[in-house]
Amino acid sequence: MEDHSFPALQNDLILRAAWGQTIERPPIWVMRQAGRYLPEYHQAKGNRDFFECCRDPEVASTLTLQPIERYGGLLDAAIIFSDILVIPQAMGMVVEMVDKKGPHFPDPLRTPQDKQYVELLQRKVDVAKELDYVYKAITLTRKKLQGRVPLFGFCGAPWTLLCYMVEGGGTKLFKEIKTWIYKYPEETKTLLQKITELCVEYLALQVKAGAQIVQVFDSWAGELSPASFKKFSEPYLAYIAKHLPIRLKELGLEQVPMVVFPKGAWYALDACCNMGYQVVGLDWTHDPAESVQIVGDRPVVLQGNADPGALYGTHESITEVVTGMVKGFGWAERKKGWIANLGHGITPFVKPDDLKFYFEEIHRLTKTQ
Ligand code: CP3
Repeated sequence: MEDHSFPALQNDLILRAAWGQTIERPPIWVMRQAGRYLPEYHQAKGNRDFFECCRDPEVASTLTLQPIERYGGLLDAAIIFSDILVIPQAMGMVVEMVDKKGPHFPDPLRTPQDKQYVELLQRKVDVAKELDYVYKAITLTRKKLQGRVPLFGFCGAPWTLLCYMVEGGGTKLFKEIKTWIYKYPEETKTLLQKITELCVEYLALQVKAGAQIVQVFDSWAGELSPASFKKFSEPYLAYIAKHLPIRLKELGLEQVPMVVFPKGAWYALDACCNMGYQVVGLDWTHDPAESVQIVGDRPVVLQGNADPGALYGTHESITEVVTGMVKGFGWAERKKGWIANLGHGITPFVKPDDLKFYFEEIHRLTKTQ
């Protein structure tokens, strides 16, 4: 195994919070914190292709560090600059990032009768080799972070990845993937299982490279009905939470906290607390106080969950949203169980100083007197 000797961690707040410990203040980070709302992102990226940036460890680590450098002590975690769609790429699919439009698969997997279906199932994917550039970016970023904050690794959830592979990009109708789950449920499950196993190995190798906490993004969970979530998302998310610790142990690695973010699946919060993840991410449609009640005395930490759109508002409205969140998560009474974030990724056109104000307000309103 490689010998990574990384600089000592100076701020382990998010790791202690994720393991359910009582903490001095809630840790803070935001999904997509490295991205298009930052002018320095555009500057560093130049006219390079998005995936070219992901594949270049030097560029990916520079982009990962940008929010840490800009916001200094206000942020408690970094997340490696990459994308959930690197798994379909590792499986042999072509994925392009089209400027201002998002991901595009020129040759999506349309039906289980496609030759591509059998190929995808039969191909032995070498996650170590295919995604080596991600591990290199993680290791380099850990060095450059100098122990300032822990580094997140991540992957897409099997359901969300299959949606992209079948739809070929973003969609409002979900026509193709809905056809799959209702017409070809068994074929859907077979491919979901294949993706799931790749996710486990990919996350384990990210930890081996230096990731200190991991998040599984199920961005399209909310497109499923409660009954379909039970069939097509939950078992695979639970498989990851069960098998990643086993794989880490096999590799002789320390356990890391695991976060699941099942966006839109508010009906499944109770089930998500039993899947084996230490942290469950909430989108902004959840009421924090109700969510805390649903968790009950289970050892699950909640993450979230302000409406990212609140950052388009005034400072007064940001203060109001933060106040509601701090009260809702019962911070003053509990002093644990909450990682502050937004309810989804930060959106373009947010002014970086308004995000700074959001961070400052969380710090101010959770300060121990
Ligand atoms: O700061 C970070 O969070 C790290 C990097 C990160 C990116 N994508 C960079 C990115 C992470 C964690 C992701 C995850 C991701 N990618 C998700 C899950 C999170 C979510 O938002 O639900 C999803 C669904 C994707 C797929 C994806 N990648 C889409 C739909 C898009 C285009 C639309 C959009 O919101 O940008 C991307 C592109 C992408 N991924 C960009 C960045 C910085 C923008 C690329 C650009 O235009 O420069």
